[in-house]
Amino acid sequence: MAQAPTLEQNPLREGLVLPRSPDPNVMVIFGASGDLTARKLMPALYNLALNRYLPSGFSIVGAAITPWSDEEFRKNMFDAVTRFSRTQPVDRAVWSSFAEGLYYLPLAFDDRDAYVRLKSCLERIDQERGTAEHRVYYMATLPEFFPVIIRQLGTAGLQKCNGWARVIIEKPFGHDLASARQLNEVVHTVFREPQVYRIDHYLGKETVQNTFVFRFANGIFEPIWNRRYVDHVQITVAEDIGIERRGTYYEGAGALRDIFQNHLLQLLSITAMEPPANFDAEIVRDEKVKVLRSIRPVMEGEVVRGQYGPGWVAGREVKGYREEEKVAPTSTVETYVSMRLYVDNWRWADTPFYLRTGKRLASRASEIAIQFKNAPHLPFQKTAVAGLNPNVLVMRIQPHEGTSLKVAAKIPGPVMRMRTVNMDFFYGSSFLVESPDAYERLILDCMLGDPTLFAREDEVERAWGLADHVESIWAAQPRPSLPNYAAGSWGPEEADALIERDGRRWRRP
Ligand code: BG6
Repeated sequence: MAQAPTLEQNPLREGLVLPRSPDPNVMVIFGASGDLTARKLMPALYNLALNRYLPSGFSIVGAAITPWSDEEFRKNMFDAVTRFSRTQPVDRAVWSSFAEGLYYLPLAFDDRDAYVRLKSCLERIDQERGTAEHRVYYMATLPEFFPVIIRQLGTAGLQKCNGWARVIIEKPFGHDLASARQLNEVVHTVFREPQVYRIDHYLGKETVQNTFVFRFANGIFEPIWNRRYVDHVQITVAEDIGIERRGTYYEGAGALRDIFQNHLLQLLSITAMEPPANFDAEIVRDEKVKVLRSIRPVMEGEVVRGQYGPGWVAGREVKGYREEEKVAPTSTVETYVSMRLYVDNWRWADTPFYLRTGKRLASRASEIAIQFKNAPHLPFQKTAVAGLNPNVLVMRIQPHEGTSLKVAAKIPGPVMRMRTVNMDFFYGSSFLVESPDAYERLILDCMLGDPTLFAREDEVERAWGLADHVESIWAAQPRPSLPNYAAGSWGPEEADALIERDGRRWRRP
């Protein structure tokens, strides 16, 4: 882990200075004693403090059932930051001024009186720390508590204030279209849509935002970004980890809900969208939703599900999914899904988009690969071009963040022979700074009132519609024979067959 350079030392200073600071505000974190707060939210907030992005007086009220005092909360959060912050060691001076704004309120999420106490706690903080009735309510609890908390906030009138109130809602936002609609309805009885920030942390990743830059700040790619030049697109979110200790959640989710409905469809939307007129949140999100609306519902033979059995990952023997903690020994939950999709519009008609995601695959790699068509005519001898592959543009979301373009090059020597080589851009070596965590960017954007990188109501519902359609195909099929891929492999054979039928192959990132 790297020691962060100070702003003054940083060679990329111009990219790091905020054009305006967020208003002083209080963030109430519901679920403050949980895993997400410790692993992601608190380290992100601390790193925002370290970079001096937080407004003066910024305060946090941790709210959860665990009976901690302010002091215990501060200590536990210090331990969390020491363990999980991307920058180390923790800067004591920054931490102690940050920790002065940490408070804790033990509460049961459905206890009406607790929200009255919360209200007076917030009023006191406004007076003491000048936070001027600006509030962020962060839903970092189990999803079943989201509607409970939101209703209680409404009953206590906590959404109304003289400053502003915003709500950040973690994933999963519902577990199908009907439940997502229901949740949207509850949310809208209390908050207006512009106050709602639905998290998909993929959108906070630097490399995902760079996809916008790559497409819309370079003049040379847009003219070829279409069916005329692109043979197909492969979007991969591959993980080598299993489900870790999240058996209960995962048994109710599966890869389709956990990754396809959100991260994969977000990557697809950004890859396929039309250039927005500007970077206004609504304009960008309108374009993304248009892509989701243009997706042709998949047919039965176009989607493959899988589940990992025992195997070897990075030289270590690992269990199969059914042997994982809190997983049914006969579970048919999918840990892998791949499919072929079509975006039915002028730009992409008949261009396949192959999407895949899986747990316990051979390696961790998320990428968007644009596979271009072959050159229309090769004026070389057959022997010269043996081993030549078509151009591929790969945007590596993680790891090895960056972009490469595969191009043909002549092998040095007296004979005309060629090979495919990479033109590479690596974040690490070009910028020499570590990228911020996705949560840092997203939390800051919410405080600044910019929802561009958050999922809008219609976006979430469209995405659920597509996931539900796949579920309905599976529901009509006989019980699948699972597990069908070994941990540490690249997924089931049926997935290879899905793409090979079209005369193509999955990439091995
Ligand atoms: C989460 C999923 O949304 O994304 C997890 O619930 C998954 O199952 C994680 O592991 C992957 O995120 P990242 O940032 O590690 O690619």
